[in-house]
Amino acid sequence: MSNHSKPIKRVAILTSGGDAPGMNAAIRAIVLAAQHYQMTVIGFCSGFNGLIDDISVPLSVKAVSHIIHKGGTILKSARCPAMQTPLGIQQASSTLMKEKIDALIVIGGDGSFNGLLALQKQWSGQVIGIPGTIDNDIDGTDFTIGFSTAINTAIEAIDKIRDTADAFERIFIVELMGRHSGHIAFNAGIACAAEQIISFENFAQTNNETPHESQHEDEQQKLLSLAQEIKIAQANRHESYIIVMAENIWQGGASALAQQLQSLANIDCTACILGHIQRGGSPVAKDRILATKMGVAAIQALIAGKTSVMIAEQNNAIDHVALQTAVMHQQGVCESLIRAQENILALTAQRQS
Ligand code: F6P
Repeated sequence: MSNHSKPIKRVAILTSGGDAPGMNAAIRAIVLAAQHYQMTVIGFCSGFNGLIDDISVPLSVKAVSHIIHKGGTILKSARCPAMQTPLGIQQASSTLMKEKIDALIVIGGDGSFNGLLALQKQWSGQVIGIPGTIDNDIDGTDFTIGFSTAINTAIEAIDKIRDTADAFERIFIVELMGRHSGHIAFNAGIACAAEQIISFENFAQTNNETPHESQHEDEQQKLLSLAQEIKIAQANRHESYIIVMAENIWQGGASALAQQLQSLANIDCTACILGHIQRGGSPVAKDRILATKMGVAAIQALIAGKTSVMIAEQNNAIDHVALQTAVMHQQGVCESLIRAQENILALTAQRQS
């Protein structure tokens, strides 16, 4: 993290990685703040690809009007493997020099911030990251843009699944996004009173280093105890039963788990993979407001000479966190929530009466 003193005239923005509801609200806030401080803004299209290929659009106040309520991103997004190569980084840096850009703001997740850090080694302009991902897995900020909308979408969907599950006293396994973090699964599971949550935080995962034999035994053991829990629960109560699970926690996902429960214990489960519906939709109030605060703060951070920082929100206050720190660890799910699920909320054999 260092301080620059050169006045900033020309700012570039790009949105990168998985799109998240609220990215448009952040773009709008950056453009309005930049205009207030007499800067011009351009947007590179389709993530770092647009930067490498020098494809951009001017971003006027008019261009960002009436976008605050829209999901997705008007600049489009992409994952860009080329940013992991010296050639890609060099091309990106050449574009920034050619376009006379003083500062670059990237809205995205940790992969995008790694691209920004690599770029900063070759290019002397200021770089700022804004955390935008539905996964909420970025360290140093309490919330990322898009997370609140994604869990609300998941909750709405699971509530609907509950209605039909109740009508048939049926068992559902609902698989939610989050890549390798359980923020969406854990929080949505709690908010929907799921009977079980299977997520990274409460369900030890076998990894590639675990020998194949013990991996198999471990999974069989987990499957057996889950089957037992379901059997006891369903024998005692005639109600629906919802298991919310994080993607990537179980080999083969929700469909494989449903099949295994069927063949092992004759348990009828319906798998439902919510998928990309969680990424879309109009951002909820919390994401619009967070994105607006962060967009304005990004321009103010540039004026204050900051570079290589992520705009963060901690305890309701805006802060700056070194990008290096933000990418080092994944933010974990609130411990007290994990303990409450484990000890009080999950429907276990002991909690049937
Ligand atoms: O990072 C956001 C996210 O939606 C993850 O939750 C998910 O694992 C991944 O992106 C899906 O990526 P793609 O849309 O490229 O399949």
